[in-house]
Amino acid sequence: MSELSSLGYVVFKVSDLVRWEDFAVGILGLMPGRRTPGSLGLRMDEHAQRILLEEGHDDDIAAAGWQFDTHDDLLAYVERLSARRVAVREGDSALAASRQVERIFVCDDPNGFTHELYFGPTHAPISTPFRSPLLKGAGFETGRLGMGHILPVARDYAQSLDFYRNVLGLRVSDTIRDSHSVPGATVDATFFHTRTGRHHSLATMAAPFPKRLHHVLVQVQDMDDVGMAYDRCVKAGLRIHAGLGHHPNDRMFSFYVETPSGFGLEYGHGGIVIDDAAWEVKNYSQLSDWGHRPQPPAR
Ligand SMILES: [Fe+2]
Repeated sequence: MSELSSLGYVVFKVSDLVRWEDFAVGILGLMPGRRTPGSLGLRMDEHAQRILLEEGHDDDIAAAGWQFDTHDDLLAYVERLSARRVAVREGDSALAASRQVERIFVCDDPNGFTHELYFGPTHAPISTPFRSPLLKGAGFETGRLGMGHILPVARDYAQSLDFYRNVLGLRVSDTIRDSHSVPGATVDATFFHTRTGRHHSLATMAAPFPKRLHHVLVQVQDMDDVGMAYDRCVKAGLRIHAGLGHHPNDRMFSFYVETPSGFGLEYGHGGIVIDDAAWEVKNYSQLSDWGHRPQPPAR
């Protein structure tokens, strides 16, 4: 059965492109890619675009782009969705060009954004390899594992789980039921991976949050790059949603900073890759085994 290969890109609607560029390039260490009057592509590797910022008032996620290994895989998957009566439409050449992919289909997510199913990402010319003056290590952890992960907030938790598992066909990695982190509340989260095995490409939880997207993750290959990014965020006076810490399930060492759009960005290192042949789905009782505490604003 054809499956999603990886989360290849994300699209955000942002109200302040200039602030976003400063944040993405000057704090996170991403590389600017293609620029149009109302958009900016951001690079993390040899792909021409891993994050697309489009000017708009939403300040939230607009689309998650899922890569397929072959054209046939993409078509078989779209056929399966259609057979399940999921409304899936082909994107036109303008959409494919904006996403810098060969062929693209679109369907809706129950939490207010779209999934873009594509084949054939454009690679940047060899003459312009990925470079970041801010990163000390070998760069971002991408390749077959995709750009990172997203955590959309579930409007209806049961319905969202059904959609991600049974409609998109994502594989459950594990779950967390945490009744300690938020006073007086229990947080339920479920984590999903694709066949390439990044511990999760998508997770969801039912929690009060003003945005559709709780956070997006970018992962670096060198642990020091997490600490150095943390220092840059603090120095710039950015709001830290959660300080340095470690998750028990994906074993990510990370922190969370507020993006110029108000949702979070997790900057991490060390997340595990799942081998389905030996994987057991577990339930954890805490979101973090240490750290990830809210930080007071910088002076
Ligand atoms: Fe995360």
